[in-house]
Amino acid sequence: MPGKRLTAILFSCFALLAASGLSAQDEAACFDCHSAEDDSAVHAVFKTVHGTLGGGDTAACTACHGPSEAHNRRGRRNPPDISFGPRWPSDAETRNGSCLGCHENGDQLLWAGSAHEQESMTCDTCHNSHEQTDLGLVEEQSQEQCLTCHTQVQAQIHLPSRHPIAEGKTACVDCHNPHGSLGDAALHQASVNDNCFSCHQEKRGPFLWEHPPVAEDCSLCHRPHGSVNERLLTARGPASCQQCHAAAFHPSVPYGSEGLPGGSANQNLLGKNCLNCHSQIHGSNHPSGARLTR
Ligand code: HEC
Ligand code: HEC
Ligand code: HEC
Ligand code: HEC
Ligand code: HEC
Ligand code: HEC
Ligand code: HEC
Ligand code: HEC
Ligand code: HEC
Ligand code: HEC
Repeated sequence: MPGKRLTAILFSCFALLAASGLSAQDEAACFDCHSAEDDSAVHAVFKTVHGTLGGGDTAACTACHGPSEAHNRRGRRNPPDISFGPRWPSDAETRNGSCLGCHENGDQLLWAGSAHEQESMTCDTCHNSHEQTDLGLVEEQSQEQCLTCHTQVQAQIHLPSRHPIAEGKTACVDCHNPHGSLGDAALHQASVNDNCFSCHQEKRGPFLWEHPPVAEDCSLCHRPHGSVNERLLTARGPASCQQCHAAAFHPSVPYGSEGLPGGSANQNLLGKNCLNCHSQIHGSNHPSGARLTR
């Protein structure tokens, strides 16, 4: 809250305030120098949920920028207490502290220690508090922000097999919390499998006959964003199975003609996908589905 000096300034500006439609108790110090026009960029903040902070008007300004008394007096020389730039940018911790003072809860609870925090990113990297529409909250726009930095993911979501992210049916934030999480890769859920189950519930089971890698980690066989192989698989056809089932039993051994006596092809197996027979790859509830064939 302003001290005596400020009150003096306020007094001298009373006429100006009255003209701009503000009442005396509005402490219009910020608007002595910053545009008092209703349609100015600074005033757009009043059209957002933050406009009423602290009761509105300059109280809203100081809620995020701090009381800034030194700045109020001599704005040209002293920075406000908390600034997001461009002229006197505060350090990342100060900036984030401004927002977290009110937002260290809900989805923002785990910001400290998140990958983005570790990279010294700030809330205003993604959020524009002075925009009538915070672009960080418009899905399409925020996704564009993500992809500007995550260029690998940008490539992955256009591969032949993919989650329909580019198509707008699934969004980064459906799976990730950009503010951090308890699980890996800032997923909303504690594990990759729990993430997958949140939409593909039928894969959770329980199954009479489980396929152990499925229960362990979907990403043993699938990529999350996109893949050159169908069904988001990490490897194509039999190769996907042979990462683990290499040459152990029947089907693996004669898979290539070189493994067959005389080198001729086994018509049952060669060129066929293991899935032709082992179709219940995620688990089976059939009494005789032990081999995941039904
Ligand atoms: C005495 C005039 C004056 C007053 C009063 C004033 N400002 Fe400023 N403010 C300035 C000037 C001058 C700048 C710098 C503009 C420039 O050169 O970029 C500035 C810049 C800023 C910036 C941008 C800082 C940056 O790093 O670019 C913020 C934020 C700011 N003021 C907030 C406030 C707030 C909040 C209040 C009310 C508590 C306030 N100002 C009151 C004159 C003032
Ligand atoms: C919700 C927090 C918040 C509130 C409330 C707020 N600001 Fe800001 N202000 C910011 C952030 C964040 C930025 C950085 C630009 C952006 O993200 O939109 C900023 C930027 C600025 C700038 C620099 C703009 C530029 O691009 O040169 C000025 C000046 C400023 N604010 C003044 C004010 C004044 C005056 C008020 C009260 C009318 C106010 N702010 C209210 C968070 C806030
Ligand atoms: C003085 C408390 C306070 C401060 C400081 C503050 N906020 Fe908020 N913010 C709120 C309240 C209250 C709401 C509305 C209720 C809610 O969604 O939690 C809100 C809502 C939001 C929303 C949702 C907006 C919407 O349209 O739904 C975003 C995003 C946000 N704040 C970001 C920020 C950022 C970024 C900063 C720092 C630059 C910040 N806030 C600083 C109190 C604050
Ligand atoms: C990497 C970009 C990014 C950063 C950095 C970021 N946010 Fe967000 N924020 C988002 C996106 C995207 C949403 C929308 C989330 C959704 O729709 O589920 C969001 C939503 C919010 C909301 C709205 C309520 C909610 O949880 O859905 C608040 C409040 C918020 N962020 C505050 C903050 C604060 C405070 C910081 C800094 C500590 C911050 N954000 C940093 C991208 C970001
Ligand atoms: C300004 C650049 C930038 C923006 C914008 C950005 N990120 Fe990041 N993000 C990074 C950096 C740097 C890392 C750490 C290195 C890495 O894992 O790539 C990271 C890490 C991550 C991680 C891995 C987290 C972990 O714990 O391993 C996820 C997930 C992520 N970002 C998602 C998002 C999403 C979703 C958005 C959009 C809402 C987004 N990012 C926006 C730069 C950015
Ligand atoms: C369907 C859920 C889902 C969606 C949608 C999604 N991701 Fe991911 N993402 C994951 C999973 C799961 C992982 C972790 C993979 C692992 O650890 O094996 C991951 C990992 C990441 C990582 C860590 C580095 C890496 O590639 O392993 C980043 C960065 C990332 N995602 C960014 C994004 C961005 C940006 C978007 C939106 C364009 C997005 N993700 C959309 C599920 C998703
Ligand atoms: C937010 C919801 C969501 C989450 C979480 C999710 N998916 Fe999906 N998944 C979808 C949607 C939507 C489709 C497209 C369905 C369609 O086109 O019929 C899809 C399709 C797929 C496909 C088929 C792709 C194709 O080419 O046909 C696979 C495989 C898949 N998901 C695996 C996973 C795995 C593994 C995870 C966990 C890392 C996961 N999904 C998490 C929503 C989700
Ligand atoms: C052992 C490898 C493997 C593991 C582990 C695995 N999958 Fe699959 N998944 C496959 C194969 C192979 C296909 C293709 C099936 C087909 O084309 O008939 C597939 C297809 C899918 C599909 C699309 C077709 C359908 O059946 O709906 C989804 C969705 C899917 N998997 C989700 C998951 C989830 C969720 C997990 C983790 C719980 C998981 N998968 C674990 C091998 C695996
Ligand atoms: C990440 C390793 C891994 C991958 C990839 C994998 N499996 Fe398995 N699979 C296992 C393990 C472990 C078992 C359990 C073996 C046991 O109980 O002796 C198993 C069991 C099986 C069984 C039942 C065998 C039995 O002895 O009960 C069949 C059939 C099978 N897998 C087929 C496949 C097919 C087809 C694929 C490719 C789509 C595949 N597996 C991919 C690890 C894997
Ligand atoms: C033509 C159908 C067919 C194809 C193709 C096929 N399998 Fe099989 N597989 C079977 C049948 C039937 C059994 C059960 C044999 C038994 O119970 O004695 C079996 C059993 C298995 C077993 C368990 C073996 C054991 O000794 O317990 C595994 C593991 C397996 N198959 C993996 C694979 C893999 C990996 C592929 C692809 C490289 C594959 N299968 C292709 C029909 C097939």
